[in-house]
Amino acid sequence: MTTANGQYWNKDILLGVMGDPIAHTKSPLMHTAALKALGIPGAYVPLHIAPGHLGEAIEAIRTLGFRGVNVTIPHKVAVMEYMDRIDDSAVAVGAVNTVVNDDGILTGYNTDGIGYVRSLKAEATPDLAGSRILVIGAGGAARGIIAALLLEHPAAVVIANRTVEKSKQLAEAFQGKGTVNGIGNDEIAAHIADMDIVINTTSVGMYPHIDAMPIDPALLREGMIVSDLIYNPLQTRLLTESRQRGCRIHGGLGMFVYQGAYSLEYWTGRSAPVDIMRQTIIDCLG
Ligand code: ATR
Repeated sequence: MTTANGQYWNKDILLGVMGDPIAHTKSPLMHTAALKALGIPGAYVPLHIAPGHLGEAIEAIRTLGFRGVNVTIPHKVAVMEYMDRIDDSAVAVGAVNTVVNDDGILTGYNTDGIGYVRSLKAEATPDLAGSRILVIGAGGAARGIIAALLLEHPAAVVIANRTVEKSKQLAEAFQGKGTVNGIGNDEIAAHIADMDIVINTTSVGMYPHIDAMPIDPALLREGMIVSDLIYNPLQTRLLTESRQRGCRIHGGLGMFVYQGAYSLEYWTGRSAPVDIMRQTIIDCLG
């Protein structure tokens, strides 16, 4: 594989992640382990950038010769105006999480959705074509994932959300790209029998509220794939209860690992050492 501009990267490399807050991020740990495994000298550092300083921070990428950065909350949308080019992956989502610097030309990508899909295919089911998918939640995470899922030609995507207007609006945004419908969470029971895959994109069940569940597990049936974007805890209560009901389960760690894997591949042109990246995070979460 080559870098985004068609070259293998063979120099020291400076990388980072811009966000606010940033202290909690596990990306530096994961990418530092990956660079070491690949034998690429360099550094990946956390960069605390307050919202009013994003423009200067992006200019500093050029000044300091960063090969690229990840961009996280709250900058993923705002950063788009500072890019020279925006890849289709980021246009589809309306947000950038990866910036690649090719000799001062900055390109914005979004690897969250494609990272999620790569992880789902690697870890749960290799072929999504023809599948019927229920996505719970209608925020930014859902938007990115649905954009990437539609490239796999599912038969249908149903978005369920607490606020039904938001799921309907999001479904509308994908008009012409596939069969996508928006419903309220109270309508899940009526649709669930048709579904092959259920994906939780909400924060319901995330540490420290680990007893909460985004869907009544009694609605799940044997053989269904149940996927949760949350990776802290590594196995949410939703996944534990789904496994007990004979569902195939898929945790959120893979999405984090593979979004980082795509970023690293764009920056370096090398295949990312995903097993090492994953193990680094598991060791850190203990
Ligand atoms: P992100 O960008 O990570 O997706 P977000 O835009 O804040 O985050 O979206 C969070 C999603 O989780 C929303 O769909 C939200 O539902 P609402 O649109 O009704 O707010 C959903 N969500 C968050 N907390 C929830 C809860 N306690 N119960 C049900 N849905 C919840």
